[in-house]
Amino acid sequence: MDGKKAWKQLWLAYGKKKDLGNGKYFENVWLKGFDAEDRMVNSALQELKLGAEGMLGVTPQVKQVEVAPNGDKCLAEAASNDDKCAAEAQPGAGAALCMEKSEKLSPESYSVQENGGKLQILAGDEKGLLYGVFHVLRQISMEKSLAGIAVTCTPDNPLRTYNHWDNMDGSIERGYSGKSFFFENDDIVINDRTRDYARLMASIGINGVVINNVNVKQAATWLITDRYFEKVAQLSEIFADYGIKFFLSLNYAATIELGGIDSADPLDERVIAWWKEKMKECFAKIPNLGGFLVKADSEGRPGPFTYGRTQADGANMLAEAVRPYGGIIIWRCFVYNCRQDWRDYKTDRARAGYDNFIQMDGDYAENVILQIKNGPMDFQIREPISPLLGGLQKTNQMLEVQVAQEYTGHQIDVCYLIPMFKEILDFHTYCKPGADTVADVISGRTMGNKNTGIAAVINTGNDENWTGNYLAAANLYGFGRLAFQTSLSAEEILDEWIPMSISSDPEVIKVVKDILLRSRETYEKYTSPLGIGWMVTPHDHYGCSVDGYEYDRWGTYHRADHLGMGVDRSDKGTGYAQQYYEPNASAYNSMESCPEELLLFFHHVPYTYVLKTGKTLIQHIYDSHFEGYDEAEGFAKAWDGLEGKVDVQVFANVKERFGRQLYNAREWRDQVNTYFYRKSGIPDEKGRTIY
Ligand code: GCU
Repeated sequence: MDGKKAWKQLWLAYGKKKDLGNGKYFENVWLKGFDAEDRMVNSALQELKLGAEGMLGVTPQVKQVEVAPNGDKCLAEAASNDDKCAAEAQPGAGAALCMEKSEKLSPESYSVQENGGKLQILAGDEKGLLYGVFHVLRQISMEKSLAGIAVTCTPDNPLRTYNHWDNMDGSIERGYSGKSFFFENDDIVINDRTRDYARLMASIGINGVVINNVNVKQAATWLITDRYFEKVAQLSEIFADYGIKFFLSLNYAATIELGGIDSADPLDERVIAWWKEKMKECFAKIPNLGGFLVKADSEGRPGPFTYGRTQADGANMLAEAVRPYGGIIIWRCFVYNCRQDWRDYKTDRARAGYDNFIQMDGDYAENVILQIKNGPMDFQIREPISPLLGGLQKTNQMLEVQVAQEYTGHQIDVCYLIPMFKEILDFHTYCKPGADTVADVISGRTMGNKNTGIAAVINTGNDENWTGNYLAAANLYGFGRLAFQTSLSAEEILDEWIPMSISSDPEVIKVVKDILLRSRETYEKYTSPLGIGWMVTPHDHYGCSVDGYEYDRWGTYHRADHLGMGVDRSDKGTGYAQQYYEPNASAYNSMESCPEELLLFFHHVPYTYVLKTGKTLIQHIYDSHFEGYDEAEGFAKAWDGLEGKVDVQVFANVKERFGRQLYNAREWRDQVNTYFYRKSGIPDEKGRTIY
């Protein structure tokens, strides 16, 4: 593995790999049913060349062949040496790669087969071919032999997007790896990284990207005007080469800020007419435009509520304007009143998403997708699944997760998020027998709809290694792979990422895998126990501040007193638990049946309450915080043991991050334990030092 390249190119570094008999296929490459001049086919061929040359030292000799007489049988024909394909082969050359269009496969799908020295990539369309080529390159990069391979892949989710929260001044909201590589000083940046970014995205199956922050302020409002159209189009064309649709976040109040109209009322004729005209212009100027993402009526953003209209009124008005161009409106459900006073113990921010959206289920236009955060609050390390997912039965839905580590360690602390994403996808909502998991809902299996999918807030920036902590690239990679193929396990994803990005030395794989697979639980242990969340430094969201909840003047989100802690969301409390279908509603409603990892999210629990482990709540808090720190220390030591076995730069980067993680974990451990010791007056039964 060429470390220097991997540092900058991540899993597409294409350093020298063991041949394992793979090189021979690339000496003769046939392209059939595809046009080599097509932009995506061209990208696929370029990638094949880069990969085969870099990893195997072979330059692919590509020949475009006419449609073979026997339709699909390019391989068999080649093997029998008496047909068009074989006739084009070098004399005596047995092995070959045949890339061919197949009508049997759906768009974006591919199959890779090897038989008797003939490797075949069949694809339903150009994008499928691109994905198929990346599949083959992945095998080579993982040092796996292609002999006998037989896989067919169809993406599980129609839309697989990354959302950038990049601002036009170059800053990134919740960015932990440098500045934006799309924007600088209110201008659009296009450089080598742009294409590399598109390649990285396509290699993991991402097919849509939103380039600007959902909080659309100042210059970003102008992205849909002549001031930026030319460069926006240029940027979006690079994405088009890699099968990635281009999306922008929209300022809902653009009619006021750009249009000179004194309203953004979605039912006002002037507003409707302005948007229709604006969308016509946008789609004409940006041919690869897929549509828009909208954050409305939330955290100070404008929206239809200002005019006494519903979220559906707002979304549908925009949807109608983009419909003629095949565009979609992705409307976020992160709508809540951040100034609400919830001391009355009935008001509950967690209820807001469901309360604001459920009544209009079925009222949304076909080209509207509601994008729903995984939990009802905001990307905490542990939250229940949003009851809107599957709660909505007649509305297109998309899941939103956060790969950027806003509440999960700022890409300083290691936190591999794929196990969490798996839990979310596997959750049974009980919305429909046999097709009720979140994965079912967002793939379209539950309702048979097509405008569905999955989105993540991305963790990239202009740091040389893209993600700040090199290990955070496992999340960047993993989200895309999981979005494409939901059945992949968190472990399987690491089995790909580690050899492609760090090393195929079994010892290195073992250590890195162990650290990553345990990291989420460890982070949870030293931060916030049993689903309570929000004991984090206000606004910045890194580091401990037990009373730091910024959306409450009294701070104490956790509602701790001298007897217990946690939020009562049962039918006797805020009633949030009743937003779920049965049997989830009943399970969450009682302290006894509530899954313990979510106990404090749903219940106010005495410190002396005995958990299933036999420990009291307070002892669990003490123990988990000591354990969490010790585990983090163990990770740091295990990483130290890899010195000399991984690239120097990668080693130093991760070591430096572990140093900061340990400081953070110690702070969390000591502050949380001290706080609850002082509140409860109950000493640690193991007599450890708590101040
Ligand atoms: C969180 C985050 C904000 C972000 C918001 C959102 O509240 O802290 O920075 O704007 O989520 O998802 O819109």
